[in-house]
Amino acid sequence: MLHVIEHPLIRHKLTVMRDKNTGTKDFRENLDEIGSLMVYEVTRDLPVDDVEIETPICSYTGKTLESPVVVAPILRAGLGMVTGILSLIPTAKVAHIGLYRDEKTLEPHTYFEKYPSTIPEATVLIVDPMLATGGSANAAIDMVKRQGAKNIKLVCLVGAPEGVKAVERAHPDVDIYLAALDEKLNENGYIVPGLGDAGDRIFGTK
Ligand code: PRP
Ligand code: URA
Repeated sequence: MLHVIEHPLIRHKLTVMRDKNTGTKDFRENLDEIGSLMVYEVTRDLPVDDVEIETPICSYTGKTLESPVVVAPILRAGLGMVTGILSLIPTAKVAHIGLYRDEKTLEPHTYFEKYPSTIPEATVLIVDPMLATGGSANAAIDMVKRQGAKNIKLVCLVGAPEGVKAVERAHPDVDIYLAALDEKLNENGYIVPGLGDAGDRIFGTK
């Protein structure tokens, strides 16, 4: 299922990121902040267990997260969302999924993967600012499923309808969270209006 998280703070910050005159520092800071704002909504349905504690006054049955959380950024651009998410879930473990999209074929290629051992019982948040054709997201979901992940959410900033459809078709069990559903892909596979090449804008490589 697709969830578009439309919050005035997210819209404001995303507009700053879309602006071609926004530099690396502000781009990174806004991405970090949107990551935090989104994760609040993304984790709304996480299951909780009862836990018995003592307050300074009496016994109390409180709540604790039932399952561990793994944040799985798709390198490179997904790295830009990790700090913001960890600021709200500091106990989360971090997987790394190294994928790049071939500029001509738009096909994803894997170059690195590393996972925490908790992945089979964890809620896995795959994070990447851009969901364009959906090739990278589908490859990343396949990769974490091969590691035994069963509860997976895909968290992106900007998505194209083409990418959303591709992920919904290949992985109907995975909820997709976006800050914005954009119009389309252009002839080079870039999201329109989009924000350009997220990795290059985060790391200043262009
Ligand atoms: C970008 C982006 C996604 C992918 C989206 O990464 O961060 O991972 O493209 O495109 P898709 O939906 O068509 O697969 P890129 O491959 O440019 O690598 P980078 O993050 O290292 O710049
Ligand atoms: N990857 C990006 O970084 N931007 C796009 O618009 C599409 C893929």
